[in-house]
Amino acid sequence: MKKAIIVGATSGIGNALAKILVENDYMIGITGRRKTELQKLKKLNPKNFSISAFDCTRENNSEKLEDLVAQLDGLDLLVLSAGTGDLNENLEYEIEHATNQLNVIAFTEVVDWAFNYFEKQGKGHLVAISSIGGLRGSRMAPAYNASKAYQINYLEGLRQKAKNSKKQIYVTDIRPGLIDTDMAKGEGQFWVATKEKAAKQIYGLIKRKKTVGYVTKRWRLISLLLKTVPNGIYKRM
Ligand SMILES: NC(=O)c1ccc[n+]([C@@H]2O[C@H](COP(=O)([O-])OP(=O)(O)OC[C@H]3O[C@@H](n4cnc5c(N)ncnc54)[C@H](OP(=O)(O)O)[C@@H]3O)[C@@H](O)[C@H]2O)c1
Repeated sequence: MKKAIIVGATSGIGNALAKILVENDYMIGITGRRKTELQKLKKLNPKNFSISAFDCTRENNSEKLEDLVAQLDGLDLLVLSAGTGDLNENLEYEIEHATNQLNVIAFTEVVDWAFNYFEKQGKGHLVAISSIGGLRGSRMAPAYNASKAYQINYLEGLRQKAKNSKKQIYVTDIRPGLIDTDMAKGEGQFWVATKEKAAKQIYGLIKRKKTVGYVTKRWRLISLLLKTVPNGIYKRM
């Protein structure tokens, strides 16, 4: 049986993916701050879920993850789905700081821990949910998009490191467009997918060990557009 951890499984994409992994014979360690949500998930399949409620910005993530691996007795896959971000038109520093604490500081601690674990083991698969938002800046949520750009760049660095290590370590960067969860904020939303559809596509990308995947697939078109809009036009948008 394969062993996985999903960091950020109490709601949204991580929650939907946890259900798919368990249906596909994974033993899973699930985390998030809301213990009651973890307990609800565990009830669906008590034998296959191990839970650990903790705040990634306050706790020693490495210690918590080590404990979960001990409960699972191994680890093949770690999915980092915990993330935050708020619209911040007035540029309030507290909002930017909270975003950076989770999406940059805690993100780094978790992915570094996973990479080092897999390197020691000689194999493993690290998956992180970044965002299409990381491709360009945003006046509406500057820290959110910047933190996602950091994640995209960091994961590319880890992928290069994995290749150089000559070990069987895979690094997958999932870049969602808009998914119907608490995170999807703002007006004028389009192509919003359900978290179930997103999770199904993410599972497909995990199985194929893809390096980068847009979810849902049609968001790849928007990614191409975003990458090609000239700076002079983009700054007026
Ligand atoms: N939804 C979208 O449209 C969209 C688009 C692009 C990218 N994404 C990315 O997808 C990822 C998942 O988001 P989602 O849409 O599934 O939203 P979500 O439903 O809000 O899920 C976020 C998850 O992160 C966990 N989390 C938040 N703060 C945490 C903390 N301090 N410590 C530990 N866990 C924490 C939450 O659990 P607790 O609250 O229980 O701690 C929850 O399980 C995020 O990285 C997000 O940026 C989402």
